[in-house]
Amino acid sequence: MSRVPVLTIDGPSASGKGTVAERVARALGFHYLDSGALYRLTALAAMQAGVALDDEAGVAARAAELPARFHEGRVWLADADVTDAIRAEAVGEGASRVAALPAVRAALLERQRAYRQPPGLVADGRDMGTVIFPDAATKVFLTASAQARAERRYKQLIEKGNSASLRALVADMQARDARDTARAVAPLRPAPDALLLDTTHMGIEAAVQAVLDHHRTQQGN
Ligand code: DC
Repeated sequence: MSRVPVLTIDGPSASGKGTVAERVARALGFHYLDSGALYRLTALAAMQAGVALDDEAGVAARAAELPARFHEGRVWLADADVTDAIRAEAVGEGASRVAALPAVRAALLERQRAYRQPPGLVADGRDMGTVIFPDAATKVFLTASAQARAERRYKQLIEKGNSASLRALVADMQARDARDTARAVAPLRPAPDALLLDTTHMGIEAAVQAVLDHHRTQQGN
């Protein structure tokens, strides 16, 4: 077990955990791991190589040799800046499928743990507190109703000039939650020792503050 502190922030898609985790990391001067990006990169790499997303061994091989790099807010796959490409709905859908494959999760396990470097790490995902960093001192499970999360995603899409259907987004959100929650390996669920934070009626700043307060309390223990 490493002595380097880790804060884990898990939760369903569009719960705001990415934004909260990034801000908490900045406030503490810690490194930040967006583990969902690794699953998105794996899906994108497989799609680009023509590997079927249900070819477990083929996708796991891509995950094991993923030429991924995170630098100054940009995400790179080999020499290509794929920051925007990995956010496409089709890639998110692909990520959700490859994330259900045990060999893919195993291939990404050590890579995720390697981000635990001084002075500390804030890691966001689905299984940060349960599987990847079970010894983390501070664990948070961020939720919001499917309706609230769909509305946030809807606003983002409209602001970027895309068209979107709120009803379709609610349905997508529910389908992805069901798949992430029902899968056999590392299903989406709060660690028993996680703080549950429902952000349905909470802004980003308040959520960031609640996580920092919780971290301070945990350090005192
Ligand atoms: O957080 P996100 O939307 O970028 O994640 C993309 C997909 O990857 C999502 O369907 C769940 C999966 N994922 C996972 O299974 N485990 C993680 N630690 C992070 C993401």
